[in-house]
Amino acid sequence: MDEKKIIFSGAQPSGKMTLGNYLGAIKNWTELQNEYECFFSVVDLHAITVPQEAKVLRENAMKLLAQYIACGLDPEKNTIFIQSHVKEHLELMWVLNTMTYMGELSRMTQFKDKSQKSEANLNAGLFTYPVLMAADILLYQTDLVPVGDDQKQHLELARDLANRFNNRYSPTFKIPEGYYPKGGARVMSLQEPTKKMSKSDSNENAFILLEDDPDTIRRKIKRSVTDSEGVVRYSPEQPGIKNLLDIYSALSGKPVDEIVKMYEGKGYGDFKTDTAEVIVGALEPMREKYLYLLNNKDYLEKIYSEGAQKAEAKARKTLRKVYRKVGFLERKY
Ligand code: TYM
Repeated sequence: MDEKKIIFSGAQPSGKMTLGNYLGAIKNWTELQNEYECFFSVVDLHAITVPQEAKVLRENAMKLLAQYIACGLDPEKNTIFIQSHVKEHLELMWVLNTMTYMGELSRMTQFKDKSQKSEANLNAGLFTYPVLMAADILLYQTDLVPVGDDQKQHLELARDLANRFNNRYSPTFKIPEGYYPKGGARVMSLQEPTKKMSKSDSNENAFILLEDDPDTIRRKIKRSVTDSEGVVRYSPEQPGIKNLLDIYSALSGKPVDEIVKMYEGKGYGDFKTDTAEVIVGALEPMREKYLYLLNNKDYLEKIYSEGAQKAEAKARKTLRKVYRKVGFLERKY
């Protein structure tokens, strides 16, 4: 039997999960979990590149883990773990750091955006963050990385570093490919639909959280910013409506054209009401499961403990090769 190909992906426990995280990444994870050997991590090491309160970070890590499972990831099939529990991520990161050019990192748009927002917090971790992400991916000999398209540039760096290492030493890393959803690769803000939907937005009406209750979802969709055209059309000139169409389509499985036809001659009111119901229908069962799981801390701890052990075993193999190739003495104890 052929060995299954490998998937790695992760999300930061830096706040609450949005519909963007779900449609851009986690929905695809659940769809791919049967065909691939999957590693899904709660990337807490990444989260501390911006200030976090310890207690809240711990809570968010548990919540994110619960959300992974509530969204449909099967802990029996997948390796689900907390990034800081597998120290190999940091060890490989150091080696890769020494092979990454400063120029490469300063061109990363996410770094540029984040550093513009808060000059006071320009720490070195924020700068080298993509190297840690490359280490995450390369440690597991990953074939495929399902992410939203805001991570494309980071994934490119992981590929470049893998090639650089393989050329400088000898073939060691697989070269990973990105995997982006057809619809929902970039879910936009409900308030400024030319910006991506982000959990760190200060305006709560800009995003839908996976833990929002039905009425909150209805209210947020009703208030979402559209335009004065009054025609449901898929056009870059109507970014608000375009975004709602993308969300509707991704969650219902209906092609955008079909949805546009359904609203011919109708105003935005009906379209928004139905969009909200499509979202509620998709998220409500997950929210119920999530709330149930949060009360089962022992179960969650068991999942992440077993996950870390499996992840570590795989990560150690790659790291051992890397250490040998760069010329570190083998441990004899
Ligand atoms: P993070 O935590 O910001 O987001 C998690 C996933 O959600 C996707 N995403 C979106 N997709 C569509 N529309 C949006 N508005 C939207 N917002 C977020 C992201 O693309 C991502 O797939 N650096 C990563 C975490 C990471 C990682 C990795 C991912 C660390 N190491 C290794 C893959 C492989 C991040 O900050 O994602």
